[in-house]
Amino acid sequence: MWLSPIYASPLVDEGYDISDYTAIHPRYGTMEDFNRLLEEAHSRNIRVMIDLVLNHTSVLHPWFTEARSSTTHARRDWYIWHPGRKGRKPNNWLTNFGRSAWKRDEATGEYYYHSFFPEQPDLNWRNPEVKKAMFNMVKYWLAKGVDGFRLDVANMLFKEEGLTNNPAWALVSDRNVYNRNQPEVYELLRAFRRLLDRYPGRVSIGEIYVPPPGNSRLAASFMGNGQDMLHMAFDFTLIFTRWSACAFYQALSKYYRVLPGGGWPCFVFSNHDLGRAVNHYLFPIDKEKKAKLLATLLLTLRGTPFIYYGDEIGMCNRHIPRSRIRDRYGRLLYPFYTGRDKARTPMQWDNTSHAGFSPASPWLPVHRNYRQCNVASQQVQEGSVFTHYRKLLQLRRELPVLQQGTIRFLYKRQAGYLLYERTTDEKCCWIALNFSPFVRKVTGLPENEAMVVYHSSDNRRMCGRATFPLRLFPYEAVVIGKERTDRK
Ligand code: NOJ
Repeated sequence: MWLSPIYASPLVDEGYDISDYTAIHPRYGTMEDFNRLLEEAHSRNIRVMIDLVLNHTSVLHPWFTEARSSTTHARRDWYIWHPGRKGRKPNNWLTNFGRSAWKRDEATGEYYYHSFFPEQPDLNWRNPEVKKAMFNMVKYWLAKGVDGFRLDVANMLFKEEGLTNNPAWALVSDRNVYNRNQPEVYELLRAFRRLLDRYPGRVSIGEIYVPPPGNSRLAASFMGNGQDMLHMAFDFTLIFTRWSACAFYQALSKYYRVLPGGGWPCFVFSNHDLGRAVNHYLFPIDKEKKAKLLATLLLTLRGTPFIYYGDEIGMCNRHIPRSRIRDRYGRLLYPFYTGRDKARTPMQWDNTSHAGFSPASPWLPVHRNYRQCNVASQQVQEGSVFTHYRKLLQLRRELPVLQQGTIRFLYKRQAGYLLYERTTDEKCCWIALNFSPFVRKVTGLPENEAMVVYHSSDNRRMCGRATFPLRLFPYEAVVIGKERTDRK
């Protein structure tokens, strides 16, 4: 379970602006509540990861209050300051929303650097005191028993020291940019990993901030040799990939190719910034079938799957009327960009008011489809997205090959489906995904009597002995393998 930031914060960026790294925002309860959550989760064998925002603090963090108070304050250098060049901003670096990343601070007349909102000043990781303070904070959470961290914008922690101007394309490409992906980040991540390795069983996943269409090679580079930096790195290429077996095949095979030896893959199709999987892929038709296909892909690829809350019932982005937009990006950039609230709407538990999320009116409107799309109704509905996820998760538990097996793509051009094989010494199974709205005949499978269908996303297919040639229904996703007695 990964919690996005729950720390004390003025919530300018929904918690990614932290004013106290060792306190819980009252909106999310108290430290006692957090301790209890951890305890209860652990007693159910659920691990808990928290978001770690190392790149910036809130302007309200006492470190920044002190830093901005005078140019000679001991904390001044904890942030990135510059007097400006010839009365102008220090350079042309931009925030992620295209405005200057420098803000002149009235108190001293100097500029400070902020990769995101001005209320989120970037820390100066070149100062060893910053590293010491942040690592102590990390130790605090590790001692408490958290199982790992999702490192916010891990690739942005260092900026080039000379503050060289970026090329004009810095917002859309990573080539020759100076305010992210700097060599010092790798050294820092190595030190972070050494710290983590002192606590058995803890994990790190880095968010690697890159413009569309993603960059799996860059993301993988932050895993070092696979053992000495991040355990996993999010690559968002699949989110930006078009809906086609061929495009997915190309993106996936590149992803596995660039992964360092010993590095462990991870996959994500939706998140709190980029929205929900079912809305990424063109054609708003057949959303439910596509949601099931993606679930099969996510849970049968070699790597750790990340499921964004609500995806397990096929929740969709919701249009948020302008007056109800909370996300500051949405308010700032409307109508060109309506913000990230669309994928942050309340979880749809049942068909009662506010989808059973809360008796009070929630902070964002519930999606209009909540009467059909909710946990309670899908739980009892054979073939729903939810039961599909459940069956796949069960299968993943029962078949270690789906967790540990190697992966090999058996892709044929223009076939319209994706086929891959997962193998361990003892077992082999095959996954076929039909991305097209037409029936597809699958070739390349060992067609013998021992083959059985473990699971299909289409109710029309009976589980049990497979019949050949295998013809996939439109958008069908199927897991097949050899019959086994021990389910191992
Ligand atoms: C990436 C987070 O995912 C996003 O939600 C946040 O706004 C920025 N980092 C800044 O922390």
